[in-house]
Amino acid sequence: MEFFNNHRKLFTTALFMFVALTIIVALKPAINNQENNSPLPNAEPLNKVEMAGKKVYISEGCVACHTQQVRNVEMDEVWGKRPGIAADYANIRRTDFWRNTATLMGTERTGPDLTNVGNRQPSLAWNLLHLYQPRAVVKESIMPAYPWLFEIKDSVGVEDVEVIVPEEYRKTDKGKVVATQKVLDLVAYLQSLKQTPLTNESDNPEFLYKKKKEPEFLKEKVGSLDGKALYASNCQSCHQANGEGLKGAFPPLKGSSIVLGDDLELLVSIIMLGYDARPEYAVMNAVGKDNGLTPEEITAIINHEKTSWGNDAQTVSTEEVKKIVEFIELTSGK
Ligand code: HEC
Ligand code: HEC
Repeated sequence: MEFFNNHRKLFTTALFMFVALTIIVALKPAINNQENNSPLPNAEPLNKVEMAGKKVYISEGCVACHTQQVRNVEMDEVWGKRPGIAADYANIRRTDFWRNTATLMGTERTGPDLTNVGNRQPSLAWNLLHLYQPRAVVKESIMPAYPWLFEIKDSVGVEDVEVIVPEEYRKTDKGKVVATQKVLDLVAYLQSLKQTPLTNESDNPEFLYKKKKEPEFLKEKVGSLDGKALYASNCQSCHQANGEGLKGAFPPLKGSSIVLGDDLELLVSIIMLGYDARPEYAVMNAVGKDNGLTPEEITAIINHEKTSWGNDAQTVSTEEVKKIVEFIELTSGK
């Protein structure tokens, strides 16, 4: 056969097939990706500090236990408002010339998914203490402590961020626990992890395999909200399950004059808008507003606080709380 004996024809054909395959297998998909996956319009790229924090996240191996992907199955609904889409990852670039892209989507969820942790846990004080010693804020935590991200100093400088650690969680070395730049960067990165809302919420992809709606007659039975469970998911990480808080960081609600007192407006406003009244405690962020708590849920939480841990105060009604919440929303320009 003449074709197989002609090196020109052979080489040209092979070259042509090689180029054609490269276009089909590599170039076309890349162009398709580039055209169809730009970042969402209101997605914010990481700033310098957050980017430095991401590198700490990578080097400390946090991805071993934490995912950053909300799958489109119902059980993932707690980790974000909508399932993740390709555009959520479109801002991610190569780490550097030598290292490939670190998407940090993760494969293992020993700890919670962190896609939206910036909204769920925005408190600097909580994050620092949690990284210094997770068990100081979450007793049952199996997350490792990262004490090497902190320094022990004799005195605290003006620029230093001190971490108040309860006595029983201190190492033997005395002195002040001060956050290093590394851990501040890391927390900035954690605080930047917020799921970007789509411009049009009705475009949100659905979570699949939803359980059938509860029949109406069942709903009535379980109609009243569980204040204890709501407290556990919204307040307990700081004020603790026993309501005693943590000395020097989070005040006790057990025996608190604000919780036991009659100034409901103050109590509701603390829950909705946060609180920063005293230097000996950290700052409470706007938990109610951030977590979208409804007046019914706030009432359930307040009544749980007023009647637990030995607290024994008059409970309040949803109507009273609702009025105050509406007033707060009106004046705080929600
Ligand atoms: C051995 C597994 C493991 C590793 C490694 C790990 N974590 Fe965790 N993480 C957990 C577990 C379990 C929890 C839930 C209990 C808790 O809050 O401590 C958690 C909770 C968290 C939370 C709170 C999430 C929420 O929804 O409130 C943050 C933030 C966090 N981890 C950040 C990190 C960072 C940053 C690193 C790396 C420096 C890291 N974790 C490494 C297991 C881990
Ligand atoms: C991120 C940590 C954090 C979370 C979560 C949190 N708080 Fe707080 N809370 C604080 C801090 C810190 C203070 C003290 C602020 C100050 O006095 O400067 C505080 C103060 C309070 C006070 C005033 C207590 C007193 O006697 O002074 C009440 C009441 C309160 N919080 C209720 C709640 C409720 C209810 C929730 C859940 C819906 C909640 N907090 C969630 C950190 C938190």
